[in-house]
Amino acid sequence: VKDKVLQKLKENTSSFISGEELSGMLDVSRTAVWKHIKSLKEDGYIIESSSRKGYRLLPSPDIINVFEIKQGLKTVVIGKKIIYLDTVDSTNNYAKIIAAQGCADGTVVITDTQTSGRGRLGRTWNSADRAGIWMSVVLKPDIPPEDVQLITLAASVAVVSAIKEVTGLEVGIKWPNDVILGGKKACGILTEMNSEMERVNFIVLGIGINVKHTMEDFPEELRNVATSIKAFADGKGIEIKWFERNDLIRVLLCELERLYTDIINGDVKGIVERWKKHSVTLGREVKIFSRNCEYRGMAVDVTQDGKLVVDCTDGITRKVASGEISIRGILGYT
Ligand code: BTN
Repeated sequence: VKDKVLQKLKENTSSFISGEELSGMLDVSRTAVWKHIKSLKEDGYIIESSSRKGYRLLPSPDIINVFEIKQGLKTVVIGKKIIYLDTVDSTNNYAKIIAAQGCADGTVVITDTQTSGRGRLGRTWNSADRAGIWMSVVLKPDIPPEDVQLITLAASVAVVSAIKEVTGLEVGIKWPNDVILGGKKACGILTEMNSEMERVNFIVLGIGINVKHTMEDFPEELRNVATSIKAFADGKGIEIKWFERNDLIRVLLCELERLYTDIINGDVKGIVERWKKHSVTLGREVKIFSRNCEYRGMAVDVTQDGKLVVDCTDGITRKVASGEISIRGILGYT
C-alpha cells in the first residue's frame, strides 16, 4: 500500500490529494494512509501536509526506492527480486550469504551506505552516504569458471551504456573494469565467485558507481583519482538532465540482462568489441604489477575470454587475467 500511496502522490504533484481520496482510492483507512505518509517521510520524501487540503509530494532528494526502480523495469531475471538495505557492511558480503542460501539467479542487493565497502585486490571502497549506487547482483550462469572474467567486462560495458543513456556522457573503461570520466575513476566492479573446478556455483557482481558526490565528498587522498558523474559534469560545466539514482539503476539492470543473456548463449564477440571501443587502456604503455614482478609493455588487445594482451619490453607477449594483477598507465592513473 505504501508504494501505491507514493505512486498516487507522484501522479498528483501539482495539487493536494486528500487523505479521504487516498483512502477511497486504495481502499484502506485514513489512519493507514497517514501511517504510510509518515513512513515515506521517514524514508526522506518531502510531503507537504495540510489538515484541510491533504498531501502533496514536493521535489524530493534522490532516494533509492525499489518500487521506483521497478517502474518500467522490463527484465525477466536481473532485478526480479531487489533487496534494499539502508546500511550494510558490504552488499557483496550480503549477496554471498543469500546466494549460499539459494537465492534466485539475478537477485539484486542495493544499499545507500556501506560501512566496509570492498574494492579489488583487498582495497577498501569509499561508499559515501546516499551519493552513489552500491549494489551486488547474484548470478548463477551455467558457464565454466574461466569465462567469469567476461561477466566483469560485460558489467563495465553495461555501466558505460547506462551512463550514456541516462546522462549523455561518454565514459571510458580502464582494463579490466574501471569506468573512467575525464581520466578519473567513477565506477569500480568487484566480481567474486564461488566455484568448483569445472562449474560456477554463483557469482556476486558488485558494482559501485559514484553518482552525486561533490569532490569534497571524497577523502583528500582520492581526489586525484576519483570522480562522480555530478562532480565531473559540474567541473566541466556540462549540463546534464536531472536524473535519480533509481533511473540509472533501472537502465543498468536492463543493459546487464541483455549482456548476461548473450554470455549464456555463448554470443560474446559483441561484448568484447564494445569493451574495446570504450577502452582507454588499449594502445597505451602500461605497467603490470604481478605478485612478485613488474613488467612494462604496450597493451595491444583483449582476448575473447577477457584477458589483456601486453607486448612486454622483454620481448614476451603476455596475456594477463585480472585476478591478482593491477595495471597503471605510465603517465598517471589511466
Ligand atoms: C574496485 O576496486 O574497483 C571495485 C569496487 C567495487 C565496489 C562495489 S560497491 C558494491 C559492492 N560491494 C562492495 O563491497 N564492493 C562492491
